[in-house]
Amino acid sequence: MNTELFTITDKNRDTPAARAAVQRAGNILRAGGLVAFPTETVYGLGGDALNPESSRRIYAAKGRPSDNPLIVHICRWEDLAPIVREIPETAEKLGKAFWPGPLTMILEKSDRVPGETTGGLSTVAVRMPSDQTAISLIREAGGYVAAPSANASGRPSPTLAKYVEEDLGGKIEMILDGGQACIGLESTIVDLTEAVPTILRPGYITKEMLSKVLGEVETDRAILPEGSDIAPKAPGMKYRHYAPKAELTIIAGEEEAVVRRINELAMEAERRGYRSGVIATNATLGRYRATLIKSAGDRAEGAETARELYRILREFDEAEVDVIWSESFADDGIGQAVMNRLLKAAGHRVEKV
Ligand code: TXA
Ligand code: MG
Repeated sequence: MNTELFTITDKNRDTPAARAAVQRAGNILRAGGLVAFPTETVYGLGGDALNPESSRRIYAAKGRPSDNPLIVHICRWEDLAPIVREIPETAEKLGKAFWPGPLTMILEKSDRVPGETTGGLSTVAVRMPSDQTAISLIREAGGYVAAPSANASGRPSPTLAKYVEEDLGGKIEMILDGGQACIGLESTIVDLTEAVPTILRPGYITKEMLSKVLGEVETDRAILPEGSDIAPKAPGMKYRHYAPKAELTIIAGEEEAVVRRINELAMEAERRGYRSGVIATNATLGRYRATLIKSAGDRAEGAETARELYRILREFDEAEVDVIWSESFADDGIGQAVMNRLLKAAGHRVEKV
């Protein structure tokens, strides 16, 4: 299959050519086809959420297990009611505070949403993204776009269109290129079907931000460091996601000790003929000796690390690095999401020094 690629930026957004491209993309979705598109978190692989055949195609294109439910993307608040059994007060409050934006809510689904889209669950994940191109596409597609991250299953989520092309080129009808995703990590998922709203996946919208609006909020114990042997409530969180091909280990501790230990390990690996990689920060970048060294930004700037993390993991793959060591990052605010993804990429391998 030939995959059409079209770039939409703020400069050309209002031109007839860009409008026609989004319209074409919408028609592809209405006809049961697949279109990858930018969102503020990561690129999504879109299909018609109300068409079971489209959801099957999404799973096939990604190579994703079909018990892993998809997020339904909407572009207007009034489109929520038809796909859920009821709208609890908690959802109204969160919608007002954070939509459009990087927040996904889990609600009881209505009969309009096929089981293929929800991986057989009686609940549905819903998100209203803020990206302009995403919003226009959802509108053109008829209002309901199922979209997992647009990576091949097991690969880091794409933050650039070129990574979508690498993973899904030839398997889907179209890719809309909107440049680099500005957040870089997937949306926060909050389950509103429980007595106490529960975070199933941390993201840009933090627990503190949710608590300000809702009061008491819990975090699924399975996604906390001490709960790595419990089954998570978001089926997708159980897979070893976001994985680079190389073996990744996090080295945690005081900066001096971390730099010394990583250099020791990298030198040993190189001596044995392996290509080593290091995920550093701006402050430590010049202090490492390895085949490939990348900065994840300023240690104090969690947002920058969030934006760059998946790109860095993919660049290590491109450079065919065998082993990677990463510094550990502050886990407050967005840092919680950063560390959650980094720990998963590392298969929870952490060495404390
Ligand atoms: O930022 C995002 O959320 C991106 C963009 C494209 O919107 N999408 C995304 O989708 O990350 P995906 O499919 O890669 O991750 C969806 C996660 C999975 O872990 C899945 O198991 C969980 O959401 N999920 C979906 N529906 C659910 C449900 N009804 N109950 C519990 N977890 C659910
Ligand atoms: Mg994903």
